[in-house]
This record gives sequence, structure tokens and C-alpha cells, in this order.
Amino acid sequence: MTPDRYKMHNANPFKLGLFGANCSSGRAINTLPERWLADWDSCEAMAKIADEIGMDFILPIGRWKGYGGPTNFQGSTFETITWATGLLAQTKRITIFGTVHAPLFNPMVAAKMMVTADQVGRGRFALNIVVGWNEPEFQMSGIRQREHGDKYDYCEEWITAIKRMWSEDEPFDFKGKFLDMNNVVSEPKPYGRKAPLIMNAGQSPEGKGFALRNCDGFFTGFREHDVSKSKEFVANYKAEARAIGREIDVFTQGHVVCRPTRKEAEEYYHYFTTEAVDFGAIEESLRLKGITRANTPDYDERRRMLPLMSIGYPIVGSPDDVAEKLARIHSAGITGIGFSLVNYLKELPFLGQELMPRLEKMGLRASAT
Ligand SMILES: Cc1cc2nc3c(=O)[nH]c(=O)nc-3n(C[C@H](O)[C@H](O)[C@H](O)COP(=O)(O)O)c2cc1C
Repeated sequence: MTPDRYKMHNANPFKLGLFGANCSSGRAINTLPERWLADWDSCEAMAKIADEIGMDFILPIGRWKGYGGPTNFQGSTFETITWATGLLAQTKRITIFGTVHAPLFNPMVAAKMMVTADQVGRGRFALNIVVGWNEPEFQMSGIRQREHGDKYDYCEEWITAIKRMWSEDEPFDFKGKFLDMNNVVSEPKPYGRKAPLIMNAGQSPEGKGFALRNCDGFFTGFREHDVSKSKEFVANYKAEARAIGREIDVFTQGHVVCRPTRKEAEEYYHYFTTEAVDFGAIEESLRLKGITRANTPDYDERRRMLPLMSIGYPIVGSPDDVAEKLARIHSAGITGIGFSLVNYLKELPFLGQELMPRLEKMGLRASAT
């Protein structure tokens, strides 16, 4: 294995990852009979296939409570560091993230949990830091969410302390606005004494600033209709990072439906985003954002749109269509994509057979070894 963990140990110019597979239904709020149940056997089989076909990463969601509805969307979820550790033990090349809520994990404990995962994976563990979103998850934990700006200030102390635990040999004190830690030691260090690759997906100015200062990767939305806008965003963001002496890669997220023909793919996508939808979960998701029929004149439109919006950028079509769409994303300077599938295990082999060779021919992937 090549040693550069910040490039996910390979030379692929465009990185491909699976997003959301630790949660039941993944990211599609659907009622299909083949919907993803996220049971351990399926997760393990999925990770092995992803590893074999040359996917670069697996990115779970930090989720603690489902959204209700007939399927209780994302109601069954694995905690992500332990999930990653199990999968790292079963794979050889692929990078696996933990998506960690900084306020919910004591930094001393989290530092060591992540080192364990990283040692198991021999340098293939990565960290997606999140500050917290859904209030009911925090109510369940007994930990109160902070005000928005403070969330990121806390997060910055949290990761700074952890990076010190991952690198320093001498005991140290850490005195911050939030953390007061004394005589801190932590052994062993991450694999090869290098901090894992760190990502963040904040969309606010505070979130973007946090990622610039502390992370190696950042998630943003892809603007399909105006690739030049995405290109400009990526170039500016990277330049801002360089101005403070840092390098950062920009990633995006979406959902793939790849079928032998465009027609089949489009029909399936249409079906699970309009008809086979868990509208009970959709309504709960809107309620969590403070959107109700009583206070929102275009409520029905929002309810109709959310199944489409929740899965991010749609990449739907034949293998040629999907490859072309991924190439457009890459042309904006974006380093990689984390995407979901309706059923990760059933759909992956087709991507291995049909999509990967096309991407290789297009120069998006290094030649298979
Ligand atoms: C690709 C991606 C993955 C995310 N994963 C999670 C997650 O697993 N759990 C979570 O609570 N928030 C998650 N978020 C939310 C972000 O961390 C962030 O809180 C949100 O985009 C709002 O930005 P802000 O915190 O800067 O306001 C994710 C966002 C994106 C775009």
C-alpha cells in the first residue's frame, strides 16, 4: 500500500466513495421492498465488494435517531467508529471514515477509538467531523447543543486536542474556552504516526472557516447547471487554504442510479423519489427544520421536493451517462464524490463491471493493478 493516506493510498485522480450505508434506507427516503436495511452482514459484504472493485472510501452518517414514518427512515444505524473498525478488519485497500459528532464524544476517548480503527486498518481510517444537527438526537444524549458559532469553536478545540494526542510524546495540559484537560498522554499513535485524513461538511461561514483551518477535505454541493460556478468555488476555496499555508481537497455528494439503459435508470429514480417514498419520514424531517403546513404556504411543494433533495446530486443513467456526469464533476476541480445507492450490495457489482472500466478509459481512475 502506498503510504499517502491523504490521497487514500492510491493515484486515482477522482475518488469514489459510498455514502450513508451504515443507516437503514441509506439516504433515499423510500419504501421499496429492496430498500437497504444496513444489517451487519450486508455492510460487511458491501465493504468487501467495494474494496475489490477499487472504490476509494466509505463514508457513514452520524445518526442516532430515525425519522419515523412506516419505515422509520434511518432508524437503525451503526455507530460509525466501531462500524469502520469492523469493516477495516475485513478490507485491504479502501479508506473508511468515522463520522463523529464532536460534542457527543469525549476527546480523550475519541482519540483512542480512532487510533484503534486506524491501527486495524493500517492507516486507512479517516474522520468526518460533524457538530450536530437534529435536536432530538441531542435530547436523547443528555448533552445540550451549543449556539451555532460556539459549536464550531468547541469543535476546533476538540480536534486541536486530539491532534496533539495523536502526535505529542510528552504529557501536556490543554486549557481552552471549553476544554480543561490535564497531564494528557495518549499511546499508541495513529498508524505511521500520521493523523488520519480529516473532512468536514459545514455549509455556514463558520463551518467553511473551520474546515479551512483544520481539515484536509471539505464537502460542497455540485452546481450541475453551472459547472463554472463550482469550478470558481473550488479554486477560491483552495486558494484561501493556501493563503494560510494549508492544502484542502473539495468533495461532493450525490446518489447514483446506474442501469443498462438510461430509460430503466430514469424510471427507477422517478419511482422511488415520487411514489415509493416514506412521506411520514419526509414530514418529520421538515418538522425538524421548523417547516409545517401551518407556517409554510408552499408546504406541499417542499414535501414533494424533499425526497429528491435529500439524496443530493442525482447521477442517473446508463454506464456511459454516469461516467460522463462524474467527469463533469471532476472537471470542476472536485477531488471525489461520496454517493448513495438504493441497495448498496445489489448495485455495486454492476458499477464494478460497467462503470469502473469506463472511468479508467476516461482517465478518472488509475489503471487497475
Ligand atoms: C456530505 C455531508 C455529510 C454530512 N454528514 C452529517 C452527519 O452524518 N451527521 C450530521 O449530524 N450532520 C451531517 N452533515 C451536516 C454538516 O456537518 C453541517 O452541519 C451542515 O452541512 C450545516 O452546515 P453548518 O454546520 O456549517 O451550518 C453532513 C453534511 C454533508 C453535506
